[in-house]
Formats: sequence, C-alpha cells, structure tokens
Amino acid sequence: MFSRGCLAAALLGMAVCARAQDQAAPPDRAAGLQIAFARARQHLRRGINASHWFSQNPGDYSARHTDTEITPDDIAAMARLGFDNVRLSIDAVPLEQYPRGADGLNVDFVARLDGAVDLILADGMAVTIDLHPEDSYKQQLRTDNAAVDRLVALWRKLAAHYAGRDPGSVFFEILNEPEVNDPYRWAGIQARVAAAIREAAPNNTIIATGPNYSDIVDLLSLHPLDDGNVIYNFHFYDPHEFTHQGATWSTGWWRYEHGIPYPPTASSMQELLKEIPDPADRFQLENYWLNNWNAGHIQRLIDEAAAWAQANRVPLLCNEFGAYRAVADPVSRTNWIRDVRTALEADGIGWAMWDYHNGFGVAVRDKDGKSVVDPQTVEALGLKMP
Ligand code: GLC
Repeated sequence: MFSRGCLAAALLGMAVCARAQDQAAPPDRAAGLQIAFARARQHLRRGINASHWFSQNPGDYSARHTDTEITPDDIAAMARLGFDNVRLSIDAVPLEQYPRGADGLNVDFVARLDGAVDLILADGMAVTIDLHPEDSYKQQLRTDNAAVDRLVALWRKLAAHYAGRDPGSVFFEILNEPEVNDPYRWAGIQARVAAAIREAAPNNTIIATGPNYSDIVDLLSLHPLDDGNVIYNFHFYDPHEFTHQGATWSTGWWRYEHGIPYPPTASSMQELLKEIPDPADRFQLENYWLNNWNAGHIQRLIDEAAAWAQANRVPLLCNEFGAYRAVADPVSRTNWIRDVRTALEADGIGWAMWDYHNGFGVAVRDKDGKSVVDPQTVEALGLKMP
C-alpha cells in the first residue's frame, strides 16, 4: 500500500515517464510510417494470393503437395502478368511440428517455404508472410490466453527466421481474418504480436487488421498501433450473396445459390428467388436485389475505409477480394472484380486478388492440372495478358 506522499511521487514518476515516452515516440513512429507508406506504394499495388499451397490443406503439407500445387512456372506467370507481390498464406500447425531446427520451426516445411519465398523474390515480386491458420486455431484465441502466448512465440520465431532477407520486400501479416470477435481483445493480441515481431525484425513492415473477418466495419473499430511501420488491411467480399454463391463453407444457404447477376436485374432475380425454399434465406437474397449493388455503392463503402486511413494517417491495403467461380455468371463476376479493383485504385489503395488458380482464380486449371490464365479476369484487374 502507498502512503499518500509515496502515491503522489509514484504518479508523478508515471507522468514524467509518460511524457518522456510521448517525446520519444513521435520521431520513431513518423519514420516508421514514412517507410510503411513508401513500401505500400512501391511493392503492394497489385498482388495475388498463393492459396492452398502452404495453408488450407491441413491433411497434406508433404513435398508432393507443395512441389506441385504452385510451381516455379506459376510464380513466373504471376510476375509476367504484372503482379508486384504475392501473399503467401501459411498454416501455423506445420510450422511448429517436430522435428524442429535451431530456429524452433519444422525443418522440412520451412526449407520448402524458404524455397517459395526466395522464388517469389527472385522473380522481382515482394512477398507477404501471411499467417493463415485453420478456423479452430483462431477461435481458440477468443478465450484461451495460452493460445495467444503460443501465437506470440510462433511469431518471434517466424519473424527472426525471415528478418535476414531484404526487409523492403518481405512483409509480416499478423493473422488472416482473426475471427476474434471482441475488438478490444483482438487489439490487445495484435499489439502483443506486433511488439514481438518488432523485437525480432526491426526493419520489416507489419500488416495489421481489424477483428472478426477483416471487413471494413472491423477496420473502422481499430485504433492504430504505436509502431509506425505498419500497413492496415481489410478484405472485401461484399455482397457475399454474390461473391460466395455456391460456396460450401460458411453461411449454409449460399451453396444453393447460382447464376446471381451483378449488378442485379429484376427479371433474373425474380426467377432466382423462386428457387430458394426457405423464407428467411429468400428474404436475404431479396435484400441483395433491393440494395441496388453497383459500382457507386461499392465505391462508397471503400471510401469509408479510405477515410479511416486518412483520419489516422496510416497506409491501407485490401489484400483479399474475389468472387467464387463455381456457379457465378462469368460476365457478372468480372463486372464485380472490375468495380472493386477500380474503386480501390480510385482511393489509392493497393490490392491483392484472391486467388491464383483455385476457386476464385485469375487462372483455372485444365484437365491435366496446368494453369490457364483467364483473359477476362486479367482485363478486369486492369492487367495485360503477357
Ligand atoms: C478467407 C479464408 C479462405 C477463403 C476465402 C474466401 O481467406 O481464409 O479459406 O477461401 O476467405 O472465402
């Protein structure tokens, strides 16, 4: 217990200390911000997601899988298409499996991951080390502090491992779509991970995000970190009734949707609504129609994210957007991709499309498994066929 005099002295000490920190903080933060803005501009304008390669394939991260899922030819094709960066999604579990090397990471998995990182860099693109674990890993973070400790410890190792490469071209993304739904808890987790990364890697730019699924509304709840060398990120899949039609994961009724047009037209929507048996689902799809989704609507939503970044004076990125191919009308799909991409560019926001040649791809795989780039999607992205 403090005596009154002691308490006053302690408070005074804290105030002096806080003032000293205030005085010390601005130049560092300002310098970090300058680096983050410059790198976002130089390296993260037009990106592509390398999905299902080192993540999203929990049963199999064997060499057979990683040597064939995305090949050196695919990486070269990404560079030729004009992508300036690759977001490399990485599952957490295989990183930490035994046997581990001196760096504390699984020897075999990390050796192959290093090969992928170096291939991307050698083709002249930047790379984002995107920690992209399965849902269950992220959902543990909602309540389990030991799971947070494990995440922090993993990032210390991962950041130390990749800090040796050119920090201008290697970005560290704390967590894909955190799924932690308490924004205050997520803010605490994110700040702790960012501090651990910074200790191990003083010069790399960190990519941070809002809670939940990294939507714009989640970004708007976020307060920027003390660290200046950070780019803030959101994902854009609105409206999901359109982008996730036919998707078998997440909201149940999306799997029954097909051929939803964008922008919606009265005649086709009337017909499609008749096919949805459940009244609540039908109501939601009707909402999609009545909400009048078009380029202007999308622009206004993205403007909100841009306004947040401007008010907070931080760089902004949208490193996932895309529409699931399986049952979408191809013209509607490229209309949506074009509208989102041009809205982002109008606000000076760098983007990365989800994904290269899986369900949302800029390329599709032919019957022999070879990637074939889709010229319509390339055009919608504002790129040129090589
Ligand atoms: C998120 C998920 C990924 C999914 C994508 C589109 O990135 O992690 O699994 O494919 O969104 O729904």
